[in-house]
Amino acid sequence: MAFLDKHKAIETHATLLMVLSLLVVTIGGIVQIVPLFYLENTIEKVEGMRPYTPLELAGRNIYIREGCYGCHSQMIRPMRDEVERYGHYSLAAESMYDRPFQWGSKRTGPDLARVGGRYSDEWHQDHFTNAKSVVPESVMPPYGFLANNIIDGKYIQDVVVTNQLTGVPYTDDMVQNALADFTAQADPLGDASGLEERYGDAAFGTPVNVRNFDGQPELTEMDALIAYIQVLGTMVDFSTYTPVANR
Ligand code: HEC
Repeated sequence: MAFLDKHKAIETHATLLMVLSLLVVTIGGIVQIVPLFYLENTIEKVEGMRPYTPLELAGRNIYIREGCYGCHSQMIRPMRDEVERYGHYSLAAESMYDRPFQWGSKRTGPDLARVGGRYSDEWHQDHFTNAKSVVPESVMPPYGFLANNIIDGKYIQDVVVTNQLTGVPYTDDMVQNALADFTAQADPLGDASGLEERYGDAAFGTPVNVRNFDGQPELTEMDALIAYIQVLGTMVDFSTYTPVANR
């Protein structure tokens, strides 16, 4: 067939093959990339999303430092088994302030995208100290040492500034009060009104958890990690949420 003869010409001329392949790949690339320039936003906006508080941000950095992502994902796929087990599938907007995101695909343990509020702080203290004490068959390693690591927030302002630089909408007020907000969140007897005002219900429609997360008087890495874990997946109210396509 004449057509196949022409194809033979391409297959036997390396340069021609390369030029034509490049052309095909270029067209494919343009088709994928160009529409993105015409979209105003690739992330659907949702109510309730706010940047992490300084204490939650510190907890997130501990999560990353300890490699929790090696066993846990933070993205519920929109498939029935996942949604029934973990709750509403993750929205892109829910990780828009994550630098870097923690989606992952390795699940030695369960997905954590919606673990916030599912267990009490005491459960997490026990679980992090010795997972087998609450889940006898668990293979999760112990992290009890976090409760001995006292943190003073020396670098917390820098961490907030770094996130601001990468586009997380921290205001200058949030930056200036980073250290105060950091300590206020784990001190139920202190004055958390500034923290509430900057991150709470009035500003974002989502309350901030203010309490002593690790049950000890000192502010420790355990406080920060539990503060972070308890906020995961709780910012968007799914009783009122409807996807843009269904509005
Ligand atoms: C070696 C793998 C491994 C590592 C590393 C690991 N985990 Fe786990 N994790 C598990 C397994 C397995 C489970 C399920 C059994 C259990 O609840 O202990 C689990 C359960 C959990 C749960 C309860 C989830 C639920 O829905 O019941 C939380 C919360 C959690 N891990 C947080 C963490 C955090 C935070 C870190 C890092 C400090 C971490 N894990 C590190 C394996 C791991």
